[in-house]
Amino acid sequence: MNARTFFIAALTGAVLVLGACGTKQSTSEGTAPEAKDAGAAKYTIGMSQCNLGEPWRVQMNQDIQAAAAGHPELKVIFKDAQNDSLRQRSQIEEYVGAGVDLIIISPKEAAPLTAPVAAAFAKGIPVIVLDRRVLGDAFTCFIGADNKRIGRAAGAWIVQRLGGKGKIVELKGLMTSTPGQDRNSGFREGIRGSGLEIVFEADMKWLEPDARQEMESALARFPKIDLVYAHNDPGAHGAYLAAQAAGRDKEILFVGIDGLPHEGQVYVKQGILAASFEYPTGGREAIETALKILAGETVSKEITLSSRVFTKENIAAGGEWLKKP
Ligand code: FRU
Repeated sequence: MNARTFFIAALTGAVLVLGACGTKQSTSEGTAPEAKDAGAAKYTIGMSQCNLGEPWRVQMNQDIQAAAAGHPELKVIFKDAQNDSLRQRSQIEEYVGAGVDLIIISPKEAAPLTAPVAAAFAKGIPVIVLDRRVLGDAFTCFIGADNKRIGRAAGAWIVQRLGGKGKIVELKGLMTSTPGQDRNSGFREGIRGSGLEIVFEADMKWLEPDARQEMESALARFPKIDLVYAHNDPGAHGAYLAAQAAGRDKEILFVGIDGLPHEGQVYVKQGILAASFEYPTGGREAIETALKILAGETVSKEITLSSRVFTKENIAAGGEWLKKP
């Protein structure tokens, strides 16, 4: 780090860390203008993460960092948009201004992030969109699991588990983000024709405290609830806590999505969740794809990751892969 970089890093509260195996990584707001200055890495990748308040996103950054660690030619800069689409938009613009070689974005919402991604792409900067989508196709590559398939599989699993009938609460992820939309529409397809009834639905914006609050309303209104389908594991856990506080956790099943080893999988082992559907972060695949793009190779426009379901019965064996549609 030269004196100027150090000064700017100190000014902005930036933390520069040298990753294992010599890959340079920085975690901060505000290091982008120095992207080309620091160190001898051949390529600078700017990563914009929509928030770091959720374990799944911390895991995604760790997966990116771990995958990049074996490549000293890469320097990865991380920015946290703190769940603010406008801030995330500025981050993309800053990366473009700094002249990074490639951008990875995991966008908070589709519509507000579409234009800045398209502008970066139009300037010739490759953009990998990870997990949540933007609108249109002005980007290099999208990487993520198939949320519709996950929603459908969750629906089918729940129909089977409940013997075709029951009262359901659906706690939705942020409905301005594509996984929320797809986990909802896929689920509705999966339960079509069954006797399941959605008695309560609410947007808990992916957040455990919001899910808990929504579940309190559902519990107050409905004396009988058989199962909660939440679009992520924090949401399912928030609902569980509300039910536990009301003394009703034993009469309700909880199903979530993410299946992190230290979160959803643990809840399944503890019997808190009846099932968790894996949603891989795609961090490793993003770096593998970035390396190909930077080497001038053509990559697929869409890379779809596989997903497993974890239940009490299969978790010891590593879960069960969802079937291709
Ligand atoms: C984290 C998260 C995950 C979810 C993903 C969907 O922000 O809410 O729990 O699977 O985003 O994009």
